[in-house]
Amino acid sequence: MADLPVPGDNRRVAGMFGRVAGSYDLLNHVLSAGLDIVWRRAMVRTLLAPGLPHGPILDLAAGTLDVSIAIARKSPRLVMAADVCGPMLQKGLGKLDEAARRQIHPVVADGRTLPLPDASVAGATIAFGIRNIRPRPDALAELARVIRPGGRLIVLEFGTGKRRIWGGAYNFYLRRVLPVIGKIVSGDDEAYRYLAETIRDFPQEAVLADEMRRAGFADVGYRAMAGGIVFLHAGVKAA
Ligand SMILES: C[S@@+](CC[C@H](N)C(=O)[O-])C[C@H]1O[C@@H](n2cnc3c(N)ncnc32)[C@H](O)[C@@H]1O
Repeated sequence: MADLPVPGDNRRVAGMFGRVAGSYDLLNHVLSAGLDIVWRRAMVRTLLAPGLPHGPILDLAAGTLDVSIAIARKSPRLVMAADVCGPMLQKGLGKLDEAARRQIHPVVADGRTLPLPDASVAGATIAFGIRNIRPRPDALAELARVIRPGGRLIVLEFGTGKRRIWGGAYNFYLRRVLPVIGKIVSGDDEAYRYLAETIRDFPQEAVLADEMRRAGFADVGYRAMAGGIVFLHAGVKAA
């Protein structure tokens, strides 16, 4: 079996996401039994809760734009959708109507070197993306640079796959079932083995929360969803 891409190796990571871009949305919904839609909605509610400063939003690792679209449905703010993988963004663009195209601006960019001035966005989201970027502190520092003081960072990510969830049934599903279904539907088992591996290797939620604090975020908190399959982290850019 070929070596899996390493998170942070943009060329290979972007190539892999590019190969599954066509089936990504369908697989997301099927493999999570539709829960991914609920999780992204919770993320957007947290982002747009009262107190968010004025200004645009950055949706980092935007992929096929589901988070950007969910933001645009609830707010008139401009959304910059950044991702290293052009084909994922291209697939997302096909889902936008004319109004959404005026509001959502996709850009191919690395989360560690964003083409944005300091303190230029009111808030940022990153859904199922932070585990793909290494070193993680570089991405968090870059997010802290572009978010204005008082602005929010909302991170939606899988919990560590090392913890047994639902008596180990979830862990079995992750390791054995998901790569097989992923291969059947997308024809690419690498991407779904990569998914299982990066979830397994992802740190505990408290570690990610500490990393956010070290990057310059205050009031950092998180909550588990679906019994700890995913976690929603939120922090406020310190003044
Ligand atoms: C699992 S997808 C998540 C997409 C979307 N946020 C969602 O909720 O469906 C992860 C995305 O992270 C992107 N990505 C990986 N490394 C990145 C980096 N260094 N900078 C920006 N995006 C990156 C990939 O291209 C991919 O589109």
